[in-house]
Amino acid sequence: MNRQNSEKRKGYVDDYLERCQLPGEVHAYYRGKRILVTGGAGAIGSNLVIGLSNLVGDTGQVIILDNLSATKFKEPWNVCPLSNVMFVEGDIRDDVALKRVFLEGPDLVFHLAAFFANQNSVDYQETSACVDVIGHIKLLEYSQLNAIEKFVYASSGCAIYGSFPKLPLEEDFISMHLTTPYQINKMTGEMYCNFYNHHYGLKTVNCRFFNSFGPGEAPGQYRNVIPNFIYWAMNGIGLPITGTGEETRDFTYVLDLMQGLLRAGYYEQAVGENFNLAAGEEIAVRDMAAKVNEATSNKSPIVFTERRKWDTKPRLLASIEKAQRLIGYRPLVQFEEGLRVNLEWFQDNLEIIECAADFKPGMSSAVRGVKTLSK
Ligand SMILES: NC(=O)c1ccc[n+]([C@@H]2O[C@H](COP(=O)([O-])OP(=O)(O)OC[C@H]3O[C@@H](n4cnc5c(N)ncnc54)[C@H](O)[C@@H]3O)[C@@H](O)[C@H]2O)c1
Repeated sequence: MNRQNSEKRKGYVDDYLERCQLPGEVHAYYRGKRILVTGGAGAIGSNLVIGLSNLVGDTGQVIILDNLSATKFKEPWNVCPLSNVMFVEGDIRDDVALKRVFLEGPDLVFHLAAFFANQNSVDYQETSACVDVIGHIKLLEYSQLNAIEKFVYASSGCAIYGSFPKLPLEEDFISMHLTTPYQINKMTGEMYCNFYNHHYGLKTVNCRFFNSFGPGEAPGQYRNVIPNFIYWAMNGIGLPITGTGEETRDFTYVLDLMQGLLRAGYYEQAVGENFNLAAGEEIAVRDMAAKVNEATSNKSPIVFTERRKWDTKPRLLASIEKAQRLIGYRPLVQFEEGLRVNLEWFQDNLEIIECAADFKPGMSSAVRGVKTLSK
């Protein structure tokens, strides 16, 4: 990331933090803290790291543990060079890497590293389980042995609520009818957090994210729909919708997720709990695609392809009432505003994003259809 782009990226986060006006006690809590962020080079983690760097200040430190597996470019291209941020390249399954980062004496752990996401886990089931279950347990174990104050876990709405639940999705409902190894492993992750909380008194919090988008996520075969759509639309490619397009998702701006994580790490009421972190609004995939086409002036018509077998959720809409009530979470960014900033980030960073974008031919993916379209 060049200096200008990294300053702009930090600017997005600093502006957001001013706008969201976290209470003074939250700022006071984080100041001077040492914080481990696993997956801190990733789409959401890279934003959280900037926010935490702002909050911990000169006397604190943010330590990233990330194996750079999410993109093709094996450099921490997504990490802002900040004086109080340390980057350690390593794997959460590796004891040497874990000892290295825990030697830094973190007070809190935000665990965002994961084998992302549904299709990837269908194609590579064992790796999904090794990272998202075994790596997760190792991190919990090191956290309780090192008397970590709080352990905040990046769970997933799509992993908990199954295919046809009552909307809006409320935290007390869970489903056993999960359709990918990713969903199974993320749910297992929540259960292990609950186990460590109950058995060892480790203060764990499960944050259930819904469809993140925003600066920091490069497109790729296994990535989310919005970065892929932006990238293809910028290249004049017809956007491929896997389904009818009437399906809805609760698209959540990445800095709103950051706000929720920062709050979850502070409030005692969050300990032992699980929260939805979402926009709390549903948008049809067809409408989202039309907005991306409009923002990028893409004239190619939308293309409809077959729904993926595991993609069984016709609608996703989260209740954010519990997060509002217990930790004061309030999403701030409307979809159109988030999309505009996301597109701006793509335009500013296109060269590096193209290096990072990973579109290798997969065993089954919507991307193969796009490759045919682009010929
Ligand atoms: N993005 C979403 O819409 C979404 C939705 C629900 C839940 N989540 C969860 O939020 C977290 C962050 O998601 P994201 O979108 O930033 O994903 P991401 O893939 O961009 O980031 C994850 C990071 O973890 C790193 N990583 C992967 N395996 C690792 C390992 N074995 N050891 C160390 N680092 C490893 C990757 O290199 C990557 O930088 C994940 O836990 C994900 O399951 C994301």
